[in-house]
Amino acid sequence: MKILNIKTESNLSKILIGEKLSNLSGYIAGRNAIILTDSNILKYYSNDLPKGFPLIEMGIGEKNKTLGTIEMIMGKMVELEADRTSFLLSIGGGIVCDVGGFAASVYMRGIPFGFVSTTLLSQVDASVGGKNGVNFKGYKNMIGTFNQPEFVLCDNSMFSTLDEEQFRSGFAEIIKAGAIKKATLFNFCRENAVQALQNDEEIITNMIYQSVNIKAEVVEADEREKGERRLLNFGHTFAHALEKMTGILHGKAVSIGMVLAAKVSNILGMLLKDEVIELIRVLESYGLPVQPEIPIEKLFAAMKQDKKRVGDSIHLVLLDRIGHAIIRKLDYKELQSIINDLRSDI
Ligand SMILES: NC(=O)c1ccc[n+]([C@@H]2O[C@H](COP(=O)([O-])OP(=O)(O)OC[C@H]3O[C@@H](n4cnc5c(N)ncnc54)[C@H](O)[C@@H]3O)[C@@H](O)[C@H]2O)c1
Ligand SMILES: [Zn+2]
Repeated sequence: MKILNIKTESNLSKILIGEKLSNLSGYIAGRNAIILTDSNILKYYSNDLPKGFPLIEMGIGEKNKTLGTIEMIMGKMVELEADRTSFLLSIGGGIVCDVGGFAASVYMRGIPFGFVSTTLLSQVDASVGGKNGVNFKGYKNMIGTFNQPEFVLCDNSMFSTLDEEQFRSGFAEIIKAGAIKKATLFNFCRENAVQALQNDEEIITNMIYQSVNIKAEVVEADEREKGERRLLNFGHTFAHALEKMTGILHGKAVSIGMVLAAKVSNILGMLLKDEVIELIRVLESYGLPVQPEIPIEKLFAAMKQDKKRVGDSIHLVLLDRIGHAIIRKLDYKELQSIINDLRSDI
C-alpha cells in the first residue's frame, strides 16, 4: 500500500492506494460511522462491509446524483440521530462519493467523511481533490462544495466486479494526467497497456499512485480552481458536452475530448501532429474511442452552454507538448475557424 497526503486549507486527506477493503474496519473503529453505498456494491460486497454500522442505500446512475437523493440521505441521518460526531463513509464509484461528500459537507454545516473508492475512474479522479456535488436542472455538478475527505481507501481488487467498459474508461483520466503534467506517466501508460488492462496489481497501483500524485500537487496549489487546477479539465469542455448529448461514459468522453483538444492545439501551431497521433494511439490501445459520434458543429453548440464558459469566449486546456498543458481563452470567431479546420481533419 502507498499513502499520499493531500494538504489543503480545509483539511488533510489521506489517499490509501492499494489498501484492501478487508482493512476498512480499522479506519472507522470507534467512530460513529454511517455507510452510504449503492445497490451494485451491496450486490457484490455486502458480506465484506464492516458490521454493526447503519447503512443508507442510494440508487445507481447520474439520475440519482440529485438534491432529491441528498434530501433522502438527510432524512435518514436525522432518523439515525446523526450529529457532529458522526462520520459518513461513502462506498462506491464517483457518484456515491460525490453525493456522500456533499451530504456530509452540508449536514449540520459539515461532518467528517471518508470514501472507499470502487471504480478506477473514482480512484484516480472523482474521489481525490475535494470536489463534491450533485447535478441540477440538467447541468452536471452544478451544486456542491470543496471539502476533502479524511481518507480515501482505494482497493484495486474491487475492479474485478466492475463492468469492463467502466474499467477501461478510467484509464482516460490516467492518460490525461500524464498528458498534461508528466510525460513519463504517459510513456508508462503506452508501455504497459496489456498488463494494466489485466488489472496487474503492481502496474495499476503505480499508475493510480502517479496520477493521484499529479492531482494532489495541482489541488494543493489551487484547491478552488482559480488557475492551475483548471489544467485537469483537459478534454473536459468537449467531454461534458458529449456526455450531455450522447450519454457516453465520462472516461470515453474525456478520451474523445482530449483528442479534439490536441487537434485544436495542433491547428493553433502549438503541438506537433506526431504527438496528436501518439495520443490517439495510446488511447486506442486502452480500447478508448477517439472520434465523436455526433457532428462537430453540434458539439461546439453544446459547449457554448458549458457552465465554465466566460462571456463570449471559452477557456480551453491545450497541449504544447505531451506532458505540458496551458490554458487558452478563445473567442467564438476564432473557435468557428478552428471548427472548420477540424471538420476537414476528422
Ligand atoms: N468530484 C470530482 O472531482 C469528479 C471527478 C471526475 C468525475 N466525477 C464524477 O464521478 C461520476 C462518475 O464516477 P464513476 O465512473 O465511478 O461512475 P459510477 O459511480 O456511476 O459507477 C459506475 C457503475 O459501477 C458500479 N460500481 C461501482 N464500483 C463497482 C465495483 N467495484 N464493482 C461493480 N460495480 C461497481 C456503480 O454502481 C455504477 O453502476 C460522475 O458523476 C462524475 O461527474 C467527479
Ligand atoms: Zn474527469
